Amino acid sequence: MSLNLAVIGGDGTGPEVVAQALRVLDQVAKDGGFEVQTTPLPYGGERYLETGTVLTDDEVEGLKAYDAILLGAVGHADVPPGVLEKGILLKLRFELDQYINLRPVKLYPGIETPLAGKGPDEIDMVVVRENTEDLYCGNGGVARRGTAQEISTQEMIATRFGVERCLRYAFELARSRKAQGFPGRLTLVHKTNVLTFCGGTWFRAFEAIGEADYADIEREYHHVDACCMYLATKPEIYDTVVVPNMFGDIITDLGAAIAGGMGIAASGNLNPDPSNPNPSMFEPVHGSSPDIAGQNKANPLACIDSLAMLLRETGRTQGKPALEAAGERVGAAVLAVTPKFTGKKLDRSGYGTSEIGDMVLEALGAIPV
Ligand code: IPM
Ligand code: MN
Repeated sequence: MSLNLAVIGGDGTGPEVVAQALRVLDQVAKDGGFEVQTTPLPYGGERYLETGTVLTDDEVEGLKAYDAILLGAVGHADVPPGVLEKGILLKLRFELDQYINLRPVKLYPGIETPLAGKGPDEIDMVVVRENTEDLYCGNGGVARRGTAQEISTQEMIATRFGVERCLRYAFELARSRKAQGFPGRLTLVHKTNVLTFCGGTWFRAFEAIGEADYADIEREYHHVDACCMYLATKPEIYDTVVVPNMFGDIITDLGAAIAGGMGIAASGNLNPDPSNPNPSMFEPVHGSSPDIAGQNKANPLACIDSLAMLLRETGRTQGKPALEAAGERVGAAVLAVTPKFTGKKLDRSGYGTSEIGDMVLEALGAIPV
């Protein structure tokens, strides 16, 4: 059994945090008796500045040969905003049809939340963000550009097909969490009182699918503005949350903040369809943090936890139980390390990037294979 992994370190601190995740991967592969091939790929701001190439269609085709993709971060101070984000990250999400962006929002023991009186029991939800539609399709334009009469539009797109497959994934997830003791509640977040077209499609599909196939799952609907308020005041009401792309982007940054910061927020861009031939892509939610790049200061826990998700998801969807087991071990090792952050800031803990990698490796040693 083997794992054929494409690795895009990307920009800024991306390569540093990825390096720590790869050390952890090496160890769990040795312990678990499976082979790993990693192929480092140079996509990112530096290559763009040197060659003018962001990511070609052939390169996207090439990525289809891998079992999964691990990505550090893209974003470069000398590249105009949007070029790398659209040209690499969004291109991959769309072209590889990674229609789910899975973002757990979870407070770990020892990690400090800015919310008074909230502990790990109160912050433990998972956000299912639709990942291939909505404002991210980039449809729109500018007329009379640069004049006082300038008009710009950007269209929010929801297809019944895209909405339905995302909702079904979220209902299934809520059900599997219910089996683990969570309440079995799925909250749809939108803005149906204003965005009546898209909101209407989401809401009708949510009700229809829930009623027909998921009577065991409690359905709840929140407007996105109210959701932001609840995330900051009573996050314990959330179990599984399903949300369109743009609102999902926003609420998951808030989610990361209440779970202690970007240093621990993991994510997966998934195509969970078992018949899907394309790889999923896993990345920390944080950006490339150019201000601290190259200084061994970035926290690699988010990237290491994204690796845990990569191993679990790839193992499950590709029928490789050894990978799933390795993912569980990596997740458990992260959980064992977080108490060391008690009384410290997650993002400015004073621990070095490689030192945190060492801590995870040490914790792994105590977790049975
Ligand atoms: C994220 C990021 C991206 C997004 C950007 C970099 C395009 O903010 O992964 O949340 O908006 O999806
Ligand atoms: Mn974001």
